[in-house]
Amino acid sequence: MQKRIRKAVLPVAGLGTRFLPATKSIPKEMLNIVDRPILQHVVDEAREAGIEHFIFVTGRNKAVIEDHFDMSYELEDTLQKRGKLKEYNALMADLPAAGKTSFTRQQAPLGLGHAIWCARDIIGDEPFAVLLPDMITMGANGTGDRCLAQCVAAYEKHGGNIIAVEEVPASETHQYGVVAIGKDHGPTFEISGMVEKPPAGTAPSNLIISGRYILQPEVLDILGTVKKGAGGEIQLTDGMRELAGKQSFHGARFDGRTFDCGMKLGFLTANIAFALQRPDIEPTLRAELKKMLG
Ligand code: G1P
Repeated sequence: MQKRIRKAVLPVAGLGTRFLPATKSIPKEMLNIVDRPILQHVVDEAREAGIEHFIFVTGRNKAVIEDHFDMSYELEDTLQKRGKLKEYNALMADLPAAGKTSFTRQQAPLGLGHAIWCARDIIGDEPFAVLLPDMITMGANGTGDRCLAQCVAAYEKHGGNIIAVEEVPASETHQYGVVAIGKDHGPTFEISGMVEKPPAGTAPSNLIISGRYILQPEVLDILGTVKKGAGGEIQLTDGMRELAGKQSFHGARFDGRTFDCGMKLGFLTANIAFALQRPDIEPTLRAELKKMLG
């Protein structure tokens, strides 16, 4: 029996420079996919995987994230008085329970590894999940388990540390962390190496680290000591590689679709894909798309 995964860290301190000017005053995590902020989709995924406590590592100009996961008294009161109970109930269903969110700040943009390390006191001494909000996932056929639930299943089987991976064309591996494949069990496999942003042509495989992790707390001490790596930042991948010398790491191939919403194309595609899953939007959107595409 593995220790249950109760806490998830969501690093949301990034500046969102790829989406300027949209992200000048709005955090990139609050951009919409259909009618839910990207970050809400990610929290939905974490909840479905059994996560109870959400740790947001924020930064300056991110205060609206905290507001989004709190009650909004005036709005809720008005919705109730106007009889808009469907909208009111939907907001209430999304609200995390009292005391089940934590917010801490990454004071300087020193990298993903540093962001996770900033949450060390809140995580404590238990295994935890990490979800990178640039990535949103959709289960197979739109209804299957999303990525973190599949990682938790892999963790229940293998224990140790789990990294979700995704296949990309070889021409894209230099933009991501990449793993090397050891003993392969099909959907999961032993990770025999990992590297952050390998120069073109040097990646050990075309399986990238796709932004969902289950990690043992020992990685936190390591992250406090790792040297700056790719891009001059403290990289989570470098911390994990060091831990891999002492603990097991398995890759989990996600059965479903991942959208990299940190890229314009991924963001736009995610909007269309999620809208096509919505019975209230799907028929008219499909007709519009057909018209546009000729
Ligand atoms: C981060 C991770 C990288 C991972 C990627 C997924 O990179 O360091 O290993 O593949 O997220 O989006 P970043 O996007 O912060 O450059």
